Amino acid sequence: MTQWLIVGCRGQLGTALGRQLAGCADTEVVAAVDLPEVDASDAEAVKALFAGLRPDVVVNAAAFTHVDRCEREPEEARRANAVAPGLLAEACDRVGCQLVHVSTDYVFPGVGSRPYREDDPTGPVSIYGRTKLEGEARVRAVSSAFMVVRTSWVFGRGRNFLAAILNQASARERGEVSGPLRVVDDQRGRPTYAEDLATGIRALVGQDGGGLFHLAGGGEATWWELARYCLDAAGHEALPVERIRTADLALDAPRPAYSVLDCSKAENLGVRLRAWREAVSAYLVSPERAEAGA
Ligand SMILES: NC(=O)c1ccc[n+]([C@@H]2O[C@H](COP(=O)([O-])OP(=O)(O)OC[C@H]3O[C@@H](n4cnc5c(N)ncnc54)[C@H](OP(=O)(O)O)[C@@H]3O)[C@@H](O)[C@H]2O)c1
Repeated sequence: MTQWLIVGCRGQLGTALGRQLAGCADTEVVAAVDLPEVDASDAEAVKALFAGLRPDVVVNAAAFTHVDRCEREPEEARRANAVAPGLLAEACDRVGCQLVHVSTDYVFPGVGSRPYREDDPTGPVSIYGRTKLEGEARVRAVSSAFMVVRTSWVFGRGRNFLAAILNQASARERGEVSGPLRVVDDQRGRPTYAEDLATGIRALVGQDGGGLFHLAGGGEATWWELARYCLDAAGHEALPVERIRTADLALDAPRPAYSVLDCSKAENLGVRLRAWREAVSAYLVSPERAEAGA
């Protein structure tokens, strides 16, 4: 029986992972924590979390993922995205268990024209990206045997791009909002369903290896393409969606224009996530979608 500890258990990935592990005969979730009960950036809280626990695998799915808020709250961002992974790595090292730390495509500058490989130079353009990169470095400084998994454009339970688009579509259909939806069409990445990411992480852990991996949904898209597909699949075909440029939105954080991850390292181990269109269709009929109610 493999014992798992999930940090960030109420986020998109943490929820999916917890649900999957609960349904497996050979795994046990010995603890699943999140804010406010455990702040992983607090050394005392991490020490207390590990007291008496000897998990085999710890997954750090916790992060400060509001990319624009990170620009306005850089200290908060650094605590969650850099300090917390370092503390978790030290705790895992002390008890001798595997750590899986989750990171992001936003560690890249986004000026490339071919998918980013694990060994490509990083160069984040935002505080979110910079703090996540520091988190990776802190984990790898403790042990190169720990696993760092970079993913991108995650959708699952709760707050995410698809949920926002579907809510905005419903508001227009109810007549509460007028004018077309406007979605950026000049950023390109790989949309990833949290459920598939959780499955992929479990498969990578099963390979017993460590190191840096890219793991994201199959194919690539712009946010406009993702929104259009989702709206069509959800029955909002008639709703117009205007293509805009990132510069048209006065966002606090810059975004990489091209952050497509090359996932061939994981694929060569037999770990490949399903194509994003299939994954969006699955998300639309998922329990988390039913829970969101729109
Ligand atoms: N979302 C994306 O599009 C995306 C893209 C690329 C990579 N990633 C990475 O994928 C991983 C999972 O992302 P996700 O979308 O599942 O995140 P999420 O839904 O935002 O969930 C993160 C969870 O971590 C919690 N948390 C934040 N700071 C914490 C702390 N100091 N101690 C304990 N818990 C804390 C959050 O609580 P609160 O909600 O109360 O803050 C939240 O429940 C993260 O590493 C993220 O950086 C995400």
